[in-house]
Amino acid sequence: MTPRPSVLVFPIDMPQSVAFAHTARQLGFSVVVASSEPVDPGLYSEYTIAVLPYVTAPDFDSALAALLEQHQADRVFAPHPAIWWHLNALCQKADFPARFRVCNESPYEMDWQAYGTSYQWAEASLASRPLLPFAPSSALPLATYAGLHRAYNLIPGQSDNTKLFALTQIARQIGPGDVVEIGSLYGKSAFALTWLAHFHHVGSVICVDPWEIASIRNQGEQAHLINAAVASRDWQQVFLGFAASLAMFDNVNYVRQPSEDAATAYRQAASDGWICSDEFGSTPVQGSIALLHIDGNHRYEAVMRDLETWLPFVQDGGWVLLDDYVWAFGDGPQRAGDELLARRAVKTAFVAADTLFVQL
Ligand SMILES: C[S@@+](CC[C@H](N)C(=O)[O-])C[C@H]1O[C@@H](n2cnc3c(N)ncnc32)[C@H](O)[C@@H]1O
Repeated sequence: MTPRPSVLVFPIDMPQSVAFAHTARQLGFSVVVASSEPVDPGLYSEYTIAVLPYVTAPDFDSALAALLEQHQADRVFAPHPAIWWHLNALCQKADFPARFRVCNESPYEMDWQAYGTSYQWAEASLASRPLLPFAPSSALPLATYAGLHRAYNLIPGQSDNTKLFALTQIARQIGPGDVVEIGSLYGKSAFALTWLAHFHHVGSVICVDPWEIASIRNQGEQAHLINAAVASRDWQQVFLGFAASLAMFDNVNYVRQPSEDAATAYRQAASDGWICSDEFGSTPVQGSIALLHIDGNHRYEAVMRDLETWLPFVQDGGWVLLDDYVWAFGDGPQRAGDELLARRAVKTAFVAADTLFVQL
């Protein structure tokens, strides 16, 4: 049997190293992790752990050569700039006793990559033709959009960057009021809505999601693959992820109930003027919805019920967004959306990404 290729990750005590070691192990590499500082072996129990002197120590080069030799490692991942420069020079020396290559680009390039992608997206967004002819509120600065894109893409979820662009456009249209989201999962779209509601002074975002399996299970026959997958998910973990995703904002809160039951809590919050939770404290509630994002159960009957329950709170000129209007696993949102368009006189309607955007 061919031996597994071996990679050295040094120093392991950086987040980039931990992520790389994990991926390398998943790809079938034998992973050796090393540090010059004491490390908690419990953190790295899946790997071979080694100690190397500081890169500035006189015996560093010989210790590295011996370690590479011992584990037959011919590549090194090194996200620390000084170490990367030293190793990059070392591997090109003909008289260095171990043959290896540094397998990551310069740490400075690595650091910039994600920011560069976010700035590219922000620049393209600002240069794009507006989705709507008139925007009462000005565009935000380039860096604000880049920051939004960067943070949004760190949250697991099912909203893409085309939808993010559409949300940034809608956020410039909406007047003061509440933003209500039905179905938040880890808080990806909720993060974008909360960020935009903060910067455009819209109001509070109230996320409605039961984060428990009984209310989620059945999204119809065509969605049987999704129905099976969600049953194996730990929904308390998802809720904890949601709370952490949005922890930095003071204009967001949640109702942990199915959409059809949560309207009672929303009505009560509107009459109190506040909604409270342990995670987010007290958040003002106006009782009039400026934007309703429906992204919960996608069965036709469920989307229709969401509309019936929440449309009475949506203000004239407010927006209703139906996620997965274009969906590979069923036509519930599309049928419900088309009925909404047929029954109500609407000011504007368009589809961006997979979502139907309707202005009442
Ligand atoms: C497609 S995910 C939402 C994705 C999320 N908006 C994002 O940006 O990643 C659907 C969510 O709807 C929630 N959900 C399912 N049934 C619901 C119901 N009856 N009321 C409210 N939320 C529901 C699920 O718990 C799940 O978190």
